[in-house]
Amino acid sequence: MKKFVVFAVSMAIMAISSSAVIAGDATKGAKLYKKKCKACHTIDGKKKVGPTLKGVLGRDSKNAGKLDEAGLTTWLKDPKKVFPKSKMAKLFKKKLKDGEIADLVAYLKTL
Ligand code: HEC
Repeated sequence: MKKFVVFAVSMAIMAISSSAVIAGDATKGAKLYKKKCKACHTIDGKKKVGPTLKGVLGRDSKNAGKLDEAGLTTWLKDPKKVFPKSKMAKLFKKKLKDGEIADLVAYLKTL
């Protein structure tokens, strides 16, 4: 019985930590947005250097393609792969880590 409890607890911990990686943390994403994206993107519907990120999830973008969760992840990994002439790829050189991308996507979903 004791063994089973240890097993169950460790499975639960694994489930929580792996879903955290996949689901991302919107609070961290909001901080990342302020640090890395705000210079070019608003979240209130106004255009800045790039299009607003308000309601971005599910958007069919002329340049960035279908921005569902997978599309946003691909875009944030490397915009050039989706849109070779991307201004964002030219201007925003910093590479985002996979965890940061997951956090950003979780945040973008709330906008
Ligand atoms: C230096 C300016 C700049 C920064 C910083 C920047 N972007 Fe962009 N972004 C753009 C531009 C310009 C576009 C329009 C497409 C293109 O030319 O790349 C764009 C497009 C996008 C799109 C596609 C939207 C659409 O409707 O087509 C998403 C999503 C996006 N950016 C998210 C982000 C996120 C998240 C960050 C922060 C990690 C970020 N961007 C940082 C300039 C920037």
